[in-house]
Amino acid sequence: TDRAYVIDEMISAKAIAARIEALCREIQTEFADTDKLVVVGLLRGSFVFIADLVRELDLPIEVDFLEASSYGDAMESSREVRILKDLRSPIEGRDVLVVEDIVDTGHTLNHVTHLLLSRQPKRLKSIALLDKPSRREVDFRSDWIGFEIPDEFVVGYGIDFAQRNRNLPFIGKVRFTEA
Ligand code: PRP
Ligand code: MN
Ligand code: MG
Repeated sequence: TDRAYVIDEMISAKAIAARIEALCREIQTEFADTDKLVVVGLLRGSFVFIADLVRELDLPIEVDFLEASSYGDAMESSREVRILKDLRSPIEGRDVLVVEDIVDTGHTLNHVTHLLLSRQPKRLKSIALLDKPSRREVDFRSDWIGFEIPDEFVVGYGIDFAQRNRNLPFIGKVRFTEA
């Protein structure tokens, strides 16, 4: 992580915003009859996406967070998902939307989905801004996906490289400049 790198823009802030608008129309159709939707952000990567998503969503909502970490500062998934911070509220009988920044091997969202389903929500759906299907290790697909991307090292819009670059307003691709 001490290697020098530059970041090339891959998905612009404008393209992300346009995609979120379209996704919110679909989510509103799916949950049109909800009394209140619990929108669950997976910390930390989803914090930017969930903020933009809920402000575009014309539904009664509640926001909650869960932290499940598999990577830490490592470059590779540990494949062992630990719950570091659980939801504040019970979700039994509730409509739930899990919000994730990226599905890579699939371990994180797969694990969280099974955990939350065991609490018997009325309906549970998931949305991920990015999906890297070529990296999948478990059979999991999010209900909504913003963009399918190739196997590139991405940062920004909440996504980190060793905790850095989460504050970039766009999705960028890391390019190492020396060996
Ligand atoms: C990253 C990312 C996803 C997960 C995807 O989180 O934000 O949550 O990995 O990888 P997977 O599909 O292989 O499980 P990370 O564990 O790095 O924590 P962070 O969100 O705090 O950066
Ligand atoms: Mn994450
Ligand atoms: Mg991370």
